[in-house]
Amino acid sequence: MKKILVVNGPNLNMLGIREPDVYGKRTYKELVSYVKSAAKELGVKVKCVQSNSEGKLVDLIQNAFGRYDGLIVNAGAYTHYSIALLDALKAVGLPTVEVHLSDIEAREPFRRTSYISLYAEKTIVGKGFDGYKEALDYLCETKTV
Ligand code: DQA
Repeated sequence: MKKILVVNGPNLNMLGIREPDVYGKRTYKELVSYVKSAAKELGVKVKCVQSNSEGKLVDLIQNAFGRYDGLIVNAGAYTHYSIALLDALKAVGLPTVEVHLSDIEAREPFRRTSYISLYAEKTIVGKGFDGYKEALDYLCETKTV
């Protein structure tokens, strides 16, 4: 059975409370349940992790090496400036899909830059929770996983 690690970055633990007009009213806990049930349907194993700390996120990505077949990454604001996260993804070399709940292309100009995109095979934006399901579908379909 394929194993996918879902890595969520800073402030995503505040889902449901933070800017509901942008990110919706559902909580992080609901996101985890949503991802787990989508994974169950697809017959893949999934683990969801979240951290507000850049270094911790680097550790989580590094620890995926040899343990997971693919990554789904929503790096939150680190997306827009973290070379450390980009390097961690390059180091582990796992198939990776970048997900954003909101449409980062249609917001402030600083959100249009993504360091994660420089590595990720695919980027899904603006689809809310469904973006994570689409990412799981993609990783299940790719032969490299
Ligand atoms: C986000 C978009 C980022 O710009 C923002 O900093 C986030 C959430 C999203 O899921 O839409 O924290 O990654």
